[in-house]
Parts: sequence; C-alpha cells; structure tokens
Amino acid sequence: MPTFTVDTGAQQYPVLVERGALARLGAFIPPKRGVVFVVSEEGIWRMHGAAVEQALAGRPWRLILFPGGEENKRLAQIEAMAEQMVEGGGDRSSLVIAFGGGVVNDLGGFLAAVFMRGVPVIQAPTTLLAQVDAGVGGKTGANLRAGKNLVGAFHQPLAVITDPGVLATLPEREYRAGLFEVIKHGIIRSEPLFRLMQQRREAVLAREPDVVEQMVAESVRIKCEVVSQDEKESGLRRILNFGHTVGHAIEAETGYSRFLHGEAVGLGMLAALRLSELAGRIPAPLREEMAAVVRAYGPFPSTDGLTVDGLLARLRKDKKAIQGAVHWVLATGIGSTEVTADIAEDLVRHAVASIL
Ligand code: GLY
Repeated sequence: MPTFTVDTGAQQYPVLVERGALARLGAFIPPKRGVVFVVSEEGIWRMHGAAVEQALAGRPWRLILFPGGEENKRLAQIEAMAEQMVEGGGDRSSLVIAFGGGVVNDLGGFLAAVFMRGVPVIQAPTTLLAQVDAGVGGKTGANLRAGKNLVGAFHQPLAVITDPGVLATLPEREYRAGLFEVIKHGIIRSEPLFRLMQQRREAVLAREPDVVEQMVAESVRIKCEVVSQDEKESGLRRILNFGHTVGHAIEAETGYSRFLHGEAVGLGMLAALRLSELAGRIPAPLREEMAAVVRAYGPFPSTDGLTVDGLLARLRKDKKAIQGAVHWVLATGIGSTEVTADIAEDLVRHAVASIL
C-alpha cells in the first residue's frame, strides 16, 4: 500500500496507509527521543492497544487514557493530560502518539503542540473519519462552550500511521459517518472516488478490504495534496469544508449529541449541493445524481426542532466566517468546486430549508 507525503515547504512528513502499519510505529520515532506518551481512549485501546504496545517494546512509554467523546474535548483535559505527562517523566524530548478517532487526534495533537511549548506528535487514526480527514493536516484543538475547535493550533505531525485493518471493528454508525467525508473528497476532487462510492455501495458497506483501502488511500492522497498547497487554510484548503458550514451549524444546534460529525457533514453536503444548483453552478440532474450518492449512505438522524433561522444564526457565528461573511464551497461538477462569499441570503435560506 502507498505512502503519501505532506510537504508544506516548512515541513515534510509521510502518511502511511497500510494494513498492519501499527507494527511500524517505532520506526517513525526519532532516535534519542525521551518518554513516549500514547494518548488514547479506553475502547480503542482495549481492542487494538496490543499492536501499539508491541511496536513500542523496549522504549520508555506511558499510556494516557482519555474519556473520549466530543463533550470531553476541552481545555481541562489538556491540563489534566499535561500534568500526567510531567508526572510520567515528560520533558522537551518527549513525543506524543495520538491513537484513536478524531477527538483523540485533535486533543492529542493539541497537547503535543502546547506541552513544554511544543513536542512532536505522531498521529495514528483509528476511525474512518480520522483516517481520511482529522488525522492528516495538522489541525489540532479543543472545544469551547461557544463552539467546536475554537481553540487550537496548527501542529503538523512527524508521521501519520494509518492501518485500514482497524476499521473492521468500528461500530456501524461510526463507519457510515466516516463515509460522508469520503464522498466529500470525491465530490470536491476525484471523480473516480465518487464513482466508487456510487457503484460499489454494497462492497463499501460490507467493508470489503480492497474497497476500504481504495477509499482511504484516495482520500488521503487528496488531503495530502491540498494541505501541501495551503497548510493554514487561506485558499485551497477551504474546499475541504464542503458541507461543513451547514454541518457545523447542525451539530451546534443539536448540542453535539444527536448527529455524529460525519452525519452532519452528509446533511450539510445536501444543502451545499442544493445551493450549488440554486447559484447556477450545476444543473438539477447533476445535483440529484450527487445527492443520491450522499443519501444512499444514510439514514440521517432526525432534523426535528431545527429551523432555518436557527441554523442561519449559527452560520454567521461559525469560526470560518470572516467578518460575518461565510465562504461557501460550491460544487461545479463531479470533482470540482468554487469558493465564494458572494451568495445571496435567500438562496442560503432555500438550500437550508431543503434539508429540514
Ligand atoms: N477537516 C478539514 C481540514 O483539515 O482542513
């Protein structure tokens, strides 16, 4: 299986996509590094921790288990984990391995970014969503009461070790939620990936190994390419937010408890596709063809209680809005997009209403 590279100019690192890749973790730890801290969640550690333990045999390392869940992705956890690092002999020579889903990748990465003003991190994502998105690209952070990821840092990892084999044990709903990020990559940048999701639904849902590997590898390839060109999201990287603007608003309006992130993105993509049609970027039949693929991987949680006004108010507060203007990522075809802030509010209203 392939190894991809993120090259931001300032930093270059490999993203390994390979069954059994966890066994090679130790090879990515630079010589003379001090104590290694593995940040993980109990569930994933119980199922796949042995592979990490084996890979770290003979080195000084400690395990920091974190309760998991979006509600625990808070600064208080960073403080608690940093205290544990100090107690465990952590210093500037330490290294963090973030081993888990998106929440662990974000929080473990942020811990590494701030511990002793910054120590290296290796990302080892274990959910589909984290493998195809959160684990790659150096975004780290924690949530505030006011919203998701409102504090954080760009902290690129030393390496990303992705083992698609661990996805076999992922709960069904979490797996499906990750599929929406895969479809996103297809819509924004890869017609072959979109066609795979359109034509191989049964194999995708059955987690056939070759199809899972294709989905992960093609998504990672795209993510590496985009992040390499625009690490800090001042231009091209915005396309990765396709469906996220409305998706974040849905998550916030439902208290981060009803929708998994990927599910909210799926619904957000349906709104973004409708907006793309209303704004004249794609014809109705093409919008319907793309929307049908998104819907094919549902169902979505209920939208009961959500209102257009409530979601629009959230959109204006989204951290991606700059001086109140939302940058919309619109589909202009299968595999191509346009980013624009120039969209009339009544079109947004219609697009949002179409998913409620
Ligand atoms: N998840 C979107 C990004 O990494 O930019």
